[in-house]
Amino acid sequence: MIRVLFVCLGNICRSPMAEAVLRSKVAQAELSDQIEIDSAGIGDWHVGEPPHEGTREILLKQQISVDGMKARQVKEGDLSQFHYVIAMDASNLGELHEMAGVNPSSSISRLMDYVSESEIEDVPDPYFEGNFEEVYQMVEEGCSKLLEHIRDEEGI
Ligand code: 4NP
Repeated sequence: MIRVLFVCLGNICRSPMAEAVLRSKVAQAELSDQIEIDSAGIGDWHVGEPPHEGTREILLKQQISVDGMKARQVKEGDLSQFHYVIAMDASNLGELHEMAGVNPSSSISRLMDYVSESEIEDVPDPYFEGNFEEVYQMVEEGCSKLLEHIRDEEGI
């Protein structure tokens, strides 16, 4: 099983959105038995909460389910459990690198790394800005490219 973990700050806006979007793409590609997806937050403020209303609304419009999703905090063990650890922004990335130390066993990257034509490297935090639509467009494109990358890399 190939394991993918998305990480943002609170695990209620961006990373659960990416988790749900990639899961839906993986299901469409009939790869659900080969790729498992989860998400977590750097902080613990929202542990146990469902995704933010803005994320739920956007996903509902796309008919993507958020059933059963609950925020959790990222832990050191995640970095050996998951093959692809995908941060939303430079701050998340820095925290993950710090947690992983010098010899990370997983691949740690940023979602927008996979969108080669993108000049924007960070998925902006919609928690204060409320720009969920803009964030969704980036997450959607990032997840398409990430899935292409994983399929190439894993030969599936
Ligand atoms: P997220 O957004 O990292 O995309 O889930 C945030 C959610 C909560 C907070 C910050 C960002 N917060 O400060 O509580």
